[in-house]
Amino acid sequence: MSIDYPLLFEPIDIGPLEIKNRIYHSPVTLNYVDRRTGFPTEELAHYYAERARSGIGLIIQGAMDVSPASEAWPVPNFSMQDENIIPSLRDIVGRVHAYGTKIIVEIFHIGQAANTRRYGRPSVAPSAVPSVSVGTTPKVMEAEDIADAIDGFVRSTINACDAGYDGVELHATHGYLLEQFLSPFFNKREDEYGGPIDNRMRFLRDTIEQCRAAVDDDFVIGLRLVGDELLPGGLTSADIVDVATRLEDDGQLDFLDIDIGSHQNYHVTMSPMYGAPNFNVPVAAAVREAVDALPILCAPGRLVDPGQAETVLQDGHADMVGLGRALVSDPDWVAKVREGRVDDIRHCVFCNQYTMGNLFKGLPIGCIQNPAAGREKDYGAETLVPAEVSKKIAVIGGGPAGMEVARVAALRGHQVTLYEKNEALGGQVLLAAKLPRRDEIEGVVRWLGLQMEKSGVSVEMGVEVTADKVVELGADAVIIATGAHYLGTGFSGVVPQEIAGWDTAGSVTTPEALLTGAVAAGPSVVIVDADGHVTPLGLAEMLAEQGSEVTVVTCYPTVGSKLIEEMNFSHVYPRLLELGVRLRVNSWAAQVRQGEIDVFNLFAPTNIETLPAATVVMATARSVADGLYLDLKDRVPAVHRVGDCVAPGDIGTAILSAHRLGREI
Ligand SMILES: Cc1cc2nc3c(=O)[nH]c(=O)nc-3n(C[C@H](O)[C@H](O)[C@H](O)COP(=O)(O)OP(=O)(O)OC[C@H]3O[C@@H](n4cnc5c(N)ncnc54)[C@H](O)[C@@H]3O)c2cc1C
Ligand SMILES: Cc1cc2nc3c(=O)[nH]c(=O)nc-3n(C[C@H](O)[C@H](O)[C@H](O)COP(=O)(O)O)c2cc1C
Ligand code: SF4
Repeated sequence: MSIDYPLLFEPIDIGPLEIKNRIYHSPVTLNYVDRRTGFPTEELAHYYAERARSGIGLIIQGAMDVSPASEAWPVPNFSMQDENIIPSLRDIVGRVHAYGTKIIVEIFHIGQAANTRRYGRPSVAPSAVPSVSVGTTPKVMEAEDIADAIDGFVRSTINACDAGYDGVELHATHGYLLEQFLSPFFNKREDEYGGPIDNRMRFLRDTIEQCRAAVDDDFVIGLRLVGDELLPGGLTSADIVDVATRLEDDGQLDFLDIDIGSHQNYHVTMSPMYGAPNFNVPVAAAVREAVDALPILCAPGRLVDPGQAETVLQDGHADMVGLGRALVSDPDWVAKVREGRVDDIRHCVFCNQYTMGNLFKGLPIGCIQNPAAGREKDYGAETLVPAEVSKKIAVIGGGPAGMEVARVAALRGHQVTLYEKNEALGGQVLLAAKLPRRDEIEGVVRWLGLQMEKSGVSVEMGVEVTADKVVELGADAVIIATGAHYLGTGFSGVVPQEIAGWDTAGSVTTPEALLTGAVAAGPSVVIVDADGHVTPLGLAEMLAEQGSEVTVVTCYPTVGSKLIEEMNFSHVYPRLLELGVRLRVNSWAAQVRQGEIDVFNLFAPTNIETLPAATVVMATARSVADGLYLDLKDRVPAVHRVGDCVAPGDIGTAILSAHRLGREI
């Protein structure tokens, strides 16, 4: 037991299951699945084994579909109902159980939110309420559809049991089928499945009852239940308290796992750094207070700090606390807390980029900070091999790429010195953290800095390294990680040429110049956006708050198009509207003049309008800082480059490429 967190490391019984501590991996869909078969790929087993290895009490494996009608393209579909899936599931269970961790698999039917486009099957739902998420209208479920769906749950439960899982968690949240029947928002039926609560609970109760009947009593059956749908006319916290007490009285369930929200408001359910932590706690606490003995699980939301987890338990708001993204970014969270190494935890920064962002692109989930997420077999625990020969390595550039390569190379036994021209480590991430309400992202480089120190990297700051200086260093290997910067000319993939007048004195600037304070914005600002991510919008918010009249001219059909899948858009967009930022979509700039700019609609290019613009910000193409690399190529025996100085990208690509080089060098 940890002295600092006594409740967290206290064992707990969930039905017949003895769990060694009160920490669980909240279900996270990882997309590690073979699209042809719907069976897990080996990455899934390695991912969970790595988390079990750290000593977590319980893993609730991310949602597995119980029916082909639960297709959510581009998110790949699992075939949990198919008994041929069992061997690959056994592999997962065996690897997790080997560490004394229990494992339950979440099973679900997506219902109304299914995407029918790929297979031509209709989505099915209690009523014909169209899905705003995927734009489909479901077929109203008839008796045989209801029987089919329940059969899928039952078969999946039997398969889970045969594969050796300790239980299943039925998924009745996030707006999916079991919730849809419960919900007056989705369920408009007038038969025995609609109307009063007993009718709306019928499908859920029948499903629970039939799953329960299909397996022995020592097999756990739990329910992830929406705590509040956050939808107009939808289920409220009070409704759920009522449902929960009825379910406890039914006596068929071993636990409830309570969270908040539907797929229409995923930006709350999987809140990024803009939202406050603990968003699931109030609804779980309400259920905890109302039920008697039924264990209540809750992933508080945006949990990284073990103190926060302990408080939820101390306050009696839940019996177990779950972590989702924090375990993607740091699989060793539990071990680090238990062993008093809390400072070493690689905090999830809740950017949502490679988790939610990848999920809704249909890509395997990863993490911008943790290159081993989804690559545990190759990059996981104990895969780092000491270098055969300890080399003297010079790393030039202290952004995330330079820091990661330095850290990994030093861990392998190399003598590494990192040179950074600024007085602080972090590169562009320090600028990213200056955008409104984005300061958490600095955690990426804070952790790298601490780990570099611990692995013995020497750092020389305030040193702008030249090619001559590098030659003088006489290093065995040189790694260039000098980054990239905005070009400022308006060159872009929209119109691949400079925007006329880009060099108008005193008018045109870059995001970096504004964020470092090198340039102050004028009273009217136009931000030209070919980026689609957070920088142009963050600048718009920042400058509007400072009193400028701001217009964003974006080439995309909406501003912040790349923020939508990451669930950041719904946090940023309202702020722009509140601040009166003007948004011009599908548009581009033709000409900058002193104090003004001509813009046009990309679909009506002759329709040109002139806007006042004391300052024009070019959030357009970025350019690599590769001069040092090119100068050194033929002057030193071994020179490598990583990160943005190869091609401008993001933190994740910078860190992954650096990590790979750190292992190879
Ligand atoms: C405003 C802004 C917001 C962003 N937001 C995000 C985001 O939300 N998510 C995301 O994934 N990415 C974001 N990015 C991009 C991301 O920060 C970069 O992709 C990433 O930092 C690249 O890492 P790097 O180490 O390759 O280069 P950099 O971060 O550019 O680091 C290069 C370092 O090298 C140093 N250097 C250069 N030349 C020399 C020299 N000669 N001698 C010594 N030192 C030198 C520089 O001072 C710098 O510290 C953002 C970028 C900006 C500008
Ligand atoms: C990429 C991703 C996938 C998720 N997949 C599921 C899922 O399959 N089933 C589920 O019930 N919740 C899912 N969730 C929600 C998490 O279980 C958790 O409730 C939420 O992320 C809040 O916890 P956190 O802040 O600790 O991540 C997912 C969350 C993320 C970020
Ligand atoms: S990608 Fe971002 S949100 Fe996802 S686990 Fe990594 S740090 Fe956290």
